[in-house]
Amino acid sequence: MPLKRSVQAATVRGRRVLVRVDFNVPQEPNGQVADDRRIVEALPTLRHLQMAGARTILMSHLGRPGGQRDMRFSLRPIVHRLSGYLGVPVPLAEDCVGIHALEASARLKNGEFLMLENLRFHPGEEANDPAFAAQLAQLGEVFVEEAFGAVHRAHASTVGVPKRLPAYAGFLVEKEVRELSPLVENPIRPYVAILGGAKVADKLPLLQSFLGRADSLLIGGALAFPFLAAQGAHLGASKVEPGLEEAVHEFLKVAVERGTKVVLPVDWLIDLPGEAEAQAAPANEVPEGAFAKDIGPQTRDRFYAALSESKTVFWNGPLGLAEDPRFAAGTREVLAGLATIPGRHIGAGGDSARVAQDLGVLDAFQFISTGGGAALEFVQGAELPGLAVIPDA
Ligand code: 3PG
Repeated sequence: MPLKRSVQAATVRGRRVLVRVDFNVPQEPNGQVADDRRIVEALPTLRHLQMAGARTILMSHLGRPGGQRDMRFSLRPIVHRLSGYLGVPVPLAEDCVGIHALEASARLKNGEFLMLENLRFHPGEEANDPAFAAQLAQLGEVFVEEAFGAVHRAHASTVGVPKRLPAYAGFLVEKEVRELSPLVENPIRPYVAILGGAKVADKLPLLQSFLGRADSLLIGGALAFPFLAAQGAHLGASKVEPGLEEAVHEFLKVAVERGTKVVLPVDWLIDLPGEAEAQAAPANEVPEGAFAKDIGPQTRDRFYAALSESKTVFWNGPLGLAEDPRFAAGTREVLAGLATIPGRHIGAGGDSARVAQDLGVLDAFQFISTGGGAALEFVQGAELPGLAVIPDA
């Protein structure tokens, strides 16, 4: 995809710069930030604006409060963390629009920051209501898109505001586009995609997008169940999503036509009631009452063999129940193996970064996207409204 007009090119000194960030971060039950990667990754743009003498107004959503002012979704804990990183207090305007936000933004001095309270406290945000977008746009003179994780949403802050102000891409958005684009346009081959996770119905469009684009597609986790079930496998008590048989047959047919090799598990680690330890079982013969919970050792070897021939790798989703130490070995060993293979390795989607970090295999990747759904839509080749609205460089 073409480069977007960069924040580097914007004249910002003394101007109010409205920055859309994605500070929708995982939180502990007490509200504390559990994973601050999205905050940390936005810092280069924020520091650039600070040094350049901008008056920076930050806006974000957090969770899905459904257009209601629900303080469980307040950005207060996030602002606290951000202030620590920036080394200056970042005040929080208690509403993202209205007279107080307007006054606070007008009072900002060069190099200072203001954060607006959760955009989704207003129904106008997700509805991309023009009046709401106009109210937000009033707060700034320049717009910077830094919320890569939200560019697949056509909301007021991601589309309505940049239509009303001169719009630029922040450094994180630039980096995401630069790193993810080669997965869609001319990947260096062989290109191997490795996918896990659970919900096939949700991930079918993503899986389909690799047919003809990737040379091999390795499928692990519960994502593999419907594929194996359609081939007559017995999966014990494992929950297989119903109604996918036809789609799965069609998928495998198209894979053959387009020359993408689909590699499915040949064995599992299973949870057998009454047994404390994980047991191995053939992929098509999970005993009655047992649950397939991770790919088995033979599958790990097959996946590693396919990866060892790759030059480009895309990974999304754990290959088993990685949060349970008994069933983390599949994901851990395959990604640890990937770390030893030269090539370009990109991870994206959901909490992929957190899974890789928890398993100690972050070094398998040169880049892991901060985007969830946004990154997966990008990789599918979809046009993302929050990017389309930013002028090209
Ligand atoms: C995400 O975490 O994927 C983004 O912040 C978007 O959140 P949403 O799915 O609630 O729009």
